[in-house]
Amino acid sequence: MRSVLLVVGTRPEAIKLAPVYRAIKAQRFFRPVLVCTSQHRELLQQALKPFGLMPEVDLQIMTENQTPAQVASHVLRLLPPVLDRWRPDWLLVQGDTTTAFAAAVTAFYHRIPVAHVEAGLRSFRLDAPFPEEFNRRGVAVACSWHFAPTERARANLLAEGISADKISVVGNTVVDAVQWILKQQPLLPADGKRHVLVTLHRRESFGAPLRGLLQALRQVAERHYPHVEVTFPVHPNPQVRGPVLELLRDVRGIRLIPPLDYPDFLQAFRRSRVVLSDSGGVQEEAPSLGVPVLVAREVTERPEAVESGWARLVGTDPQRVVTELEAMLFDDAHWERARGGPNPFGDGNAGERIARTLAEVQRKKEG
Ligand code: UD1
Ligand code: UDP
Repeated sequence: MRSVLLVVGTRPEAIKLAPVYRAIKAQRFFRPVLVCTSQHRELLQQALKPFGLMPEVDLQIMTENQTPAQVASHVLRLLPPVLDRWRPDWLLVQGDTTTAFAAAVTAFYHRIPVAHVEAGLRSFRLDAPFPEEFNRRGVAVACSWHFAPTERARANLLAEGISADKISVVGNTVVDAVQWILKQQPLLPADGKRHVLVTLHRRESFGAPLRGLLQALRQVAERHYPHVEVTFPVHPNPQVRGPVLELLRDVRGIRLIPPLDYPDFLQAFRRSRVVLSDSGGVQEEAPSLGVPVLVAREVTERPEAVESGWARLVGTDPQRVVTELEAMLFDDAHWERARGGPNPFGDGNAGERIARTLAEVQRKKEG
């Protein structure tokens, strides 16, 4: 039987490829084979679980405080025997991680066609997000089919000379994932507090920008205790955990917790007044959950989130972040305006479109 290898390294890849895996499996044209590099360890296992996914191959590459170069070299070394064994018809990667980049390059060397899910996002700055902007441009060069989430992503690919007949606009699979999880969940009861949910982990923010953001959070929590409650699932990266514990441990009104299971994270998201985050996926989830996001970055490769009104780029300057957070928390008119328009990331059927398109492309190839 024909097969597709889905290569997954990190939490966001697991969440966003789960709907694709399920759709390919349901269609029965290809056999989906889940290969984990385990660039992430606990975070990846945690993300696969709610979708009931188990890897068939696990490269187990994560090391403490790893660099992107270490991740890439492990994938380039350990993936070839897997490709030789399975000889898949396609290799599928998602997004902009070093796993996605290195797996696409490895498949290219092996003359295995690569399809890219969430293709065409661009910040137009190689330093932000770093190194993700480079990774996703690199994947585009190595791949034979581009699943763009939006028309803008398609336009970015066309502007780079990628042929229109190798791109399909399918929506973002994160909408599928959110809808699937929410269907199985009751709403948490309100408790009268104004909740702020926080996630921070970007490499380009390590050091002074991250410390500035943490100081801003501390100021807001202390000033508005007990009316505001900040929930902060802390990323296990030592470069994040270290400063977070140093600056926010024991601050009243701030709950530092381990990363949440995806269903629990969506619950916390849904009951928040506002989210402060530098995550990519969180920007895309905001319209599905109806909660505005302040994006703690200078640029975003997801301008659709900003244009639709659900996300606001606030940078990392502490004073600006305090002002923006307080406006969202206490100015009802401002908050209402920040609750944006229609979801620019799709309708929840992206996984199915990807499975269908890949089968059509394969049928044509086979004549
Ligand atoms: C990577 C992705 C980034 C994505 C992020 C999601 C790249 C270049 N970046 O970030 O796009 O937004 O994952 O979270 O691929 N760690 C653990 N346990 C885990 C996961 C991480 O302890 O389950 C720690 C380890 O010490 C690890 C470190 O975090 O070395 C960094 O992990 P890594 O995947 O390299 O993070 P980023 O590259 O920052
Ligand atoms: N997420 C989660 N638990 C958490 C924090 C985030 O399940 O404690 C989910 C979140 O809903 C989103 C994804 O993880 O779907 C985003 O991952 P991350 O921010 O690590 O990566 P990025 O999207 O920035 O690449």
